[in-house]
Order: sequence, then structure tokens, then C-alpha cells
Amino acid sequence: MFLTPCKLSFMSLHPPKPHIILGVTGSVAAVKTAELCSSLLSLGEVRVIATDASKRFLKETLIPTSALPLLGDHDEWQSWKEVGDEVLHIELRRWADILVLAPLSANTLAKVSTGLCDNLLTCVLRAWDYQSGAPLVVAPAMNTMMWSHPLTAEQLEALQSFGAGVPGTVTVVPPVSKKLACGDVGVGAMAPVTEIVKAVEVALQALRLRRHRDMEGTELGEVQAAAAAAAPY
Ligand SMILES: Cc1cc2nc3c(=O)[nH]c(=O)nc-3n(C[C@H](O)[C@H](O)[C@H](O)COP(=O)(O)O)c2cc1C
Repeated sequence: MFLTPCKLSFMSLHPPKPHIILGVTGSVAAVKTAELCSSLLSLGEVRVIATDASKRFLKETLIPTSALPLLGDHDEWQSWKEVGDEVLHIELRRWADILVLAPLSANTLAKVSTGLCDNLLTCVLRAWDYQSGAPLVVAPAMNTMMWSHPLTAEQLEALQSFGAGVPGTVTVVPPVSKKLACGDVGVGAMAPVTEIVKAVEVALQALRLRRHRDMEGTELGEVQAAAAAAAPY
């Protein structure tokens, strides 16, 4: 099953592709999920967690089949029946090397920055291993007035502080200025997909280098070190 914990295998010269969770929230920019998903699939394996609100915007039929099915709150309870069963949000966290939140709504930002976890996506985020520097890339998207609300900067700062122990853990890809879907003109539109993918590539590269560095000075032999160096992340 895809959720089997599978971190980088240093024992293989053909290391697995990085595991990417794409979290999609209820912004109009969720219409770009298929495009973003296709680009992320060129970097690794992708699982998509969609909030209920995001499903109003994204079109499941356009999403590449290798990233399906979409995961949501229903799956959390579907896969858990009694003590001893796998807990989906924990299994997803174990599976993932990186979490990409795009688009990140004002609502989910507020929840995540204060620790609320009332759906599958926010539970994965609450269980995220910030202390070890597990990378999180977020691309906020919202109305200009929501973006310029003082709470937005405060909450993004809080989010970034979670990964303060390992520089580069949390990457914010800022929104851009344009005519928004609501008709307002100003900052708030999700950054272009290319910018988000570039940020993910940089975060994966930093993760790969950190894992490689962690290997040095251990008892592992040359084969394992070479595998780590050749790893795609
Ligand atoms: C048509 C429409 C467009 C919306 N666009 C945005 C948006 O771009 N950004 C945002 O933060 N919220 C937007 N919202 C509000 C969110 O959908 C709402 O706050 C929702 O509760 C977010 O839930 P989620 O964070 O669980 O996905 C929009 C709502 C509607 C009805």
C-alpha cells in the first residue's frame, strides 16, 4: 500500500522518488491543482489532500491518475475502525518527504498557525515534523484585503517560527498582484505554478544535502554514501 513508511533508502543505488503531499484549500486558485499536480509529478510521487471547500474549485477529472484518489476527511475515518488500525494523517506524515500547501487559504493559515486540526490536512500539518526540518512550502492565495489584514503576516510568521530550528524548513511563496477572481485588483493571487515548483525543487535539494551531510561520519559504507549523493532529494 502506498502509505508504507518509505524514507530515502540509503541501501539502494536507485533511491525512491521523493514523496510529495499537495494540500489544496478553498481558494479560487485551487482551479490550478491539475497543472500544479502535473508539474510536481515530474519531481516525485504525489498525493493530494483536498479540503471540503477546495472541492468546489478543483476538477478531479483533470488531475493525473497517478495522484488520485484525492484524499479527504472521509478517508481518515474510512481507514480507521478500531484501535490498532492505521491512522491516516500519521501515515501520510510518515510517507511524505515534503508538504506543499497551494493554494493556502486564509482560513487554513489561521488554523495551522494556531494549531487547530479539524480535518485531514490540518491534522497532517499539526503532526508535521518541523523540529527535524521536514520541508513545508506554502503559497497563500486570498483577496487583497485578507492578505493585507494584520493577522496574515502574524500567522505566516508563526508558521515560519515552527521550523526555526532548521533554517529553510518553511518556505512562503508570496502571492502576486493582478485582477483577482472577485474583481478586486491587488496582491493576493497565488504565485505562478512555476514559482511554486521552483520553491519545491529548492526545498528538496536542501533536504537531500542535509540527509547526505547527516550520513557523513556515520558507520555507513561507501555504497550507501554514494546512494545518498545520487538521491534525487
Ligand atoms: C467563490 C469563493 C472564493 C473564495 N476564494 C478564497 C480565496 O481565494 N482565498 C481564501 O483564503 N478564501 C477564499 N474563500 C473562502 C474559503 O473558501 C473559506 O474560508 C473556506 O472556509 C476555506 O476552507 P479551507 O481552508 O478548509 O479550505 C472563497 C470562498 C468563495 C465562496
